[in-house]
Amino acid sequence: MKLRKKLSVLLLLLGGAVVTQAQEKIPEVEELLSKMTLEEKIGQLNLLTPGGGVATGSVVSEDVEAKIKAGNVGGVFGVSSPEKVRQAQEIAVKNSRLGIPLLIGSDIIHGYKTTYPIPLGLSSSWDMELIKSGAQMAAKEATADGINWNFSPMVDIARDPRWGRIAEGAGEDPYLGSQIAKAMVEGYQGEDLTLPYTMMATVKHMALYGAPEAGRDYNSVDMSRLKMFNEYLPPYQAAVDAGVGSVMTSFNDIDGVPASGNKWLLTDLLRKRWGFGGFVVSDYTSVNEMIAHGMGDIQDVSAMAINAGLDMDMVGEGFLTTLKKSVEEGTVSEEQITKAARRILEAKHKIGLLNDPYLYSDESRPARDILTDENRSLARKAATRSFVLLKKHNNTLPLSKNANIALVGPLANSKNNMLGTWAPTGNPQLSVPILDGLKNVAPDATIQYAKGANIADDSTFAKKVNVFGERIQISEESSETLMKEAMNLAKEADVIVAVVGEATEMSGEAASRTDIRIPESQKKLIRELAKTGKPVVLVLMSGRPLDISEEMDLPVSILQIWHPGVEAGNAVADVLFGEYNPSGKLTNSWPRSVGQIPIHYRMKTTGRPGPESGDFQKFKSNYLDSPNSALLPFGFGLSYTTFEYSNIKASSSELSSNGSIEVSATITNTGDYDGEEVVQLYIHDKVRNVTPPGKELKGFQKIMLKKGESKTVTFTITPEELKFYNSQLDHVFEPGEFEYFVRGTSDSEFDGSFTLKN
Ligand code: BGC
Repeated sequence: MKLRKKLSVLLLLLGGAVVTQAQEKIPEVEELLSKMTLEEKIGQLNLLTPGGGVATGSVVSEDVEAKIKAGNVGGVFGVSSPEKVRQAQEIAVKNSRLGIPLLIGSDIIHGYKTTYPIPLGLSSSWDMELIKSGAQMAAKEATADGINWNFSPMVDIARDPRWGRIAEGAGEDPYLGSQIAKAMVEGYQGEDLTLPYTMMATVKHMALYGAPEAGRDYNSVDMSRLKMFNEYLPPYQAAVDAGVGSVMTSFNDIDGVPASGNKWLLTDLLRKRWGFGGFVVSDYTSVNEMIAHGMGDIQDVSAMAINAGLDMDMVGEGFLTTLKKSVEEGTVSEEQITKAARRILEAKHKIGLLNDPYLYSDESRPARDILTDENRSLARKAATRSFVLLKKHNNTLPLSKNANIALVGPLANSKNNMLGTWAPTGNPQLSVPILDGLKNVAPDATIQYAKGANIADDSTFAKKVNVFGERIQISEESSETLMKEAMNLAKEADVIVAVVGEATEMSGEAASRTDIRIPESQKKLIRELAKTGKPVVLVLMSGRPLDISEEMDLPVSILQIWHPGVEAGNAVADVLFGEYNPSGKLTNSWPRSVGQIPIHYRMKTTGRPGPESGDFQKFKSNYLDSPNSALLPFGFGLSYTTFEYSNIKASSSELSSNGSIEVSATITNTGDYDGEEVVQLYIHDKVRNVTPPGKELKGFQKIMLKKGESKTVTFTITPEELKFYNSQLDHVFEPGEFEYFVRGTSDSEFDGSFTLKN
């Protein structure tokens, strides 16, 4: 079966380009629709979960089997294994009147059973091939277990590390975020969705979910259109352009209208302007939540959602229980319901289900495809590439494989915390803790372990974090005893490795924090360790940027490892012992304090730019008590080696409106180790009709350099790369001067400039 042909009609209207995609009707789908009653069409719009997944709201669906038989269900999630999925499909195919198979959904956010690093971690690899391979592996494992539809990628731009779901995305930048969105969609969906090892992707959460006021999850979002288009919408659009099959709405409101009922968002923007041809699913009970948002009763909000362009209702069942009545009362047209049902059926056709309902029910696959050695080694590789070396002190790293190591910290031997947030399909007990990893990779080292501190001492806090398992385990020994044990080991050791930071579920959904420092229980331990005068390596685990101002000032080295996944310990050991030289770069700016939030590198200059030196100046845009700059900038990350940039130049000082120029730089590995570097190109549009960002990422390349080796990296710039949305929301470029620089971090001076001519 081939993907159906799309006809694109480009309408150039005054004020901007509007793309509508007219699509050929699919005969099998039209035939089914012609036989369907109104109730059966509404049934296709209903997505249920019989439990087994993560219930992120208060509702779990009831009587699922009876509803499937009655033709009242279009898809389910939280069901897995070929046997169970076959049973579910049989109920639909053999017992419902029209025998339409079910979409089988799941949240496979960073690996299915072979969990790899949390998305924020993996984004720090800046390695699109790796990210795509991770998604491919996830698709192969998940489809082996019966799943055909994934609720990923999550591409919400996030600039507020208080927000726990920052862990699930790719950071703060629209350009990088768009590249990652594309790589993930391509990885999950492959070339051909009808193949049994590809699954349909869902881009989420449309839209702006990453910008809740005060960083509190589910909170309101209020943003100018200009900011939406230039900063927050590009990754969703990139996923649509990459052919994503479905879009999930967000919980928040936009311009005062909740996303799930927002016609401007779901119809005018997504379908008419972007030409999206797939289907739109709500988030978990987000239609019902429009009641709490203040939009009316369940019938009102369900009608509002379908009329806005939402096709499928996740868990809430408002569509199922009220749409027929709304059709009878004339507030919803049957045509609108037919359109939505068509989109669901088209998706089922696209993934090959209408042809073969049991395409994803091959019982021989799990043993062959899931948690294989090959998959685990990809997870290990991905983890090593996601780590970011934040601070080097006295060449402590890499460690000798014969070292005498005191391994301390509450996360040093904690299987429960290796996988990170949103890994419900993974099994923490299969993960390699750091202690085991160090022993595996360096069998000749002497490694002594002590916990040293609790992740947090506050049992009320621990209870909130421990909803899905004992992530924070408060020891019976007093904190003094824990500390003493660690200090005793530290005294005997050549080097101290302290694994500290956040437990899984201190980030993620409904896990916002107002204080983003390492918890005080662990800070005390870190301070004492730093006082020993021994070499100390902090291995820092977290699902968000943290405020580590205090730790950056201590005489320690710091390696950020996020939540690395099932191969955590082995990957950490690979990097600590120098088997892999860290190459990750931050995809968020790390603040000096929560007071700087929201923070990102694309800040505008303002009319009163803060002084470059960071010294305070009255009547300039700066703080009395902090520099403006981030503690650790976007794009930043160290290596065991060093890189020097030279010969940075543009091929011409002028760029014509239909031409291109090349900006190049020579990068030399000047240190003692082979290593990889992420070479980044930034520009600054000096004059525009709407105020430009101070700098914008426009390209990056990850290169390998042997020690002493040099390479020249070239970026091609055309006017297309210089486009932005103006106040009419047209995507345009404007002639004038552009500055540029090429470096391994966003924090640099400009190297030169060129002029874009008319
Ligand atoms: C989350 C979504 C997820 C859904 C289904 C919601 O709470 O916001 O990201 O896909 O649950 O599990």
